[in-house]
Amino acid sequence: MEEKKIEISFISAHLSEISDEEQQLVANAKSAFKTAYAPYSGFLVGASVLLENGEVICGSNQENVAYPSGLCAERVALFYAGAKYPKIKIKTIAVSVFSKSYQEIDVISPCGACRQVMAEYEDKQEQSIKVILHCPSDKVLIANAVESLLPFMFKSSLLKKYKQ
Ligand code: THU
Repeated sequence: MEEKKIEISFISAHLSEISDEEQQLVANAKSAFKTAYAPYSGFLVGASVLLENGEVICGSNQENVAYPSGLCAERVALFYAGAKYPKIKIKTIAVSVFSKSYQEIDVISPCGACRQVMAEYEDKQEQSIKVILHCPSDKVLIANAVESLLPFMFKSSLLKKYKQ
């Protein structure tokens, strides 16, 4: 028996300290949360995905009265990027949140389902995706790879098919 440890590294910064390209992507995510459809939670989330061809694809959370039918901003943006540019790699995803219903929202971390989706794209493209999380106080948290947000992810290589 052996105890093993996983180390996760991330950067905590103020928005003004990150690169111009990253600040621009956060600005895109901030614009995106204005398009959120969140009448049930009142919690607005915007996500912007920077692709290697320089395109930025944005998404926001889209809720539904049948609650589980809604989708988080991250997956709206990632699936849109995947559908529009299936062969282009994703460099970075920025996420920004806003709500009048909650006080002092700190940096929020993407839900497990969104991390799984991000992690699969990272696995598929064999290149890290940077994740930038931004909150209203302009605090940002940066992870250089999705892998550090989802250790032990469930990946397709774990599934071995029987030979046909
Ligand atoms: N939400 C996101 O869009 N992204 C996250 O990372 C966390 C949660 C949405 C889902 C729902 O519309 C609302 O925020 C409240 O959970």
